Amino acid sequence: MGEGIKLPVINGLGRTNRVDNWWSQPLAMGLALTLALLYTFWRLFLHDTGISYQLDGSTVMSPIFSPNILEWELFGLSEWNHPNWVNAAILVLWIPFGFRGTCYYMRRVYYRTFFASPSACWVDEPEINKKLGYKGEKRVFILNNLHRYFLYAAMIIIAIKWWDVTHTLTFEGGQYGVSVGTFVMAIEAFLLTMYVTSCHALRHLAGGMLDRWTTGISQIRGKLFGRLSLTNRSHGFWFWTSLSFVFIGDLWVFAVNEGYFTGLADWKLILL
Ligand code: FES
Repeated sequence: MGEGIKLPVINGLGRTNRVDNWWSQPLAMGLALTLALLYTFWRLFLHDTGISYQLDGSTVMSPIFSPNILEWELFGLSEWNHPNWVNAAILVLWIPFGFRGTCYYMRRVYYRTFFASPSACWVDEPEINKKLGYKGEKRVFILNNLHRYFLYAAMIIIAIKWWDVTHTLTFEGGQYGVSVGTFVMAIEAFLLTMYVTSCHALRHLAGGMLDRWTTGISQIRGKLFGRLSLTNRSHGFWFWTSLSFVFIGDLWVFAVNEGYFTGLADWKLILL
C-alpha cells in the first residue's frame, strides 16, 4: 500500500512549493560546522598555546585539549620527547571526531547541509544525487558502522573529563573550592555526558538488542532503555550545545591566557 506514490516535488535544484524558510536551518548548520572545523584546525596546527591556566594550584584545561595526555605519567607520556607539532588535541581528537562524524544525527545534518541529499523535505535535490541514488553505508561511509566503537572510547573520554574537573577544585594549602574555570569545565563535561547518554547506539546497547524485557536483568535493561529514550529525544539539542561549549570553553581559556577577564578568572569560592 502506498508504494509508488510520489510527492509533488517540482523539478530543479532547490525548487519547492514550500513557503517557509526551509533553507535557513541547513545553511546555519553548514556554517556552524564549517566554522567549527576551521577553528579546530587553527587551534590544533597554527596556534596551540594557551591551552590551560593555573589558579592558586588548580588547573583549568581547554576542552579542546582535555584530556591533556601529554602530561600523563602513564606510559611515560609526560617524558616523551615529542615533535613540536604534536599536542594533546592532535593525539586525542580522533575520538570525538570519529564519534561525532559517525553520529546518526550528524549524518542527517551533513547529508542535508553538504550534499543536499535530500536538500529538505519536499525540496528538489541536485541532478547528480538523483543519478547516483542512495548507496547506503558503502565506500568511505562504511566507517559509519564504527559508531558503537567510538562510543566506547567516548565514554572513557567523559570519565577523564570529569576527572579533569576535579583538578579545578583543589587549591594551594589543601583547600577545596570552585572558580569560573570549574563551571566552564563542568558544563562542558555535563553537556558531553548528555550527548553520549542520548546516543542511539548506547540506547541499543542498553536494551534495544533484546526481544523482551520481561524477566531478571532484561527488566532492568528495559527500564534503562526507557530512560535513555527520554534523553534520546533531544539528541540534536545535546549535539549542538555540547559542540558549542567545546569552543566557548576553549575561547575562555584562551582569553584568560591572553590577559582578558583577569578579575573574573581569579575569582574563587573556598568551600572546605
Ligand atoms: Fe549521535 Fe550516537 S547517535 S552520538
